[in-house]
Amino acid sequence: MRKQHFIKAAGLMGFLALTSTVAFGLPWDIDMADAQTVKAYEREMTPLPEGVVAQANELSPNAYRQNWVLGTPEGNALTNPVEKNEQSLATGKKMFQVYCAPCHGTGTELGPVSKQYPGIAMLGGANGRLKAIPDGRLYLTIRNGFGLMPSYAYAMNDTEMWSLVHYARTLPQASYTPPAPVEPQ
Ligand code: HEC
Repeated sequence: MRKQHFIKAAGLMGFLALTSTVAFGLPWDIDMADAQTVKAYEREMTPLPEGVVAQANELSPNAYRQNWVLGTPEGNALTNPVEKNEQSLATGKKMFQVYCAPCHGTGTELGPVSKQYPGIAMLGGANGRLKAIPDGRLYLTIRNGFGLMPSYAYAMNDTEMWSLVHYARTLPQASYTPPAPVEPQ
């Protein structure tokens, strides 16, 4: 009797071992690595069609826009094309609360970043950065990012960004004060 049980059990185990996926896979499952795959960068990239201009890191739907450089005279001189009215201020406020307040605070209250770096990241108030930043520069800061601050061009369209600029100017003491002209010696 015992012997019969043993033979049955051994037969069953043998059957399972042969039919399990592992057993079936074994001779083949290791050849995937040897198959005719093309690994990353193994072959030359297909050239771009003629006339296409390569762009680095195209994350944003706004990337096709003219790339004014933050802090240049042309960038600073950009003027707000969006009319300042109730609707644009409401849009700007919403954008500010969603995308800016988590770091910079609400304008009257500090956020985690403006608490840590009040001189750099405090937007409104007596020592706020916005006083020193023309509209064009503020728009480009939102669109392109600045230093440690990420870009928000992926999140907002142009109208929303410029509406945000209108709203940011309503924070306490947030209007731009142009630097005093340097007296010729
Ligand atoms: C993830 C955190 C974070 C968010 C969100 C954020 N910022 Fe900033 N912001 C920073 C940091 C950090 C700096 C300082 C950057 C530096 O000096 O490297 C900064 C700096 C600034 C400056 C000063 C730029 C200058 O020229 O000195 C302005 C203006 C500004 N942010 C506006 C905004 C606006 C408007 C938004 C919303 C669209 C926003 N930030 C969202 C972190 C953030």
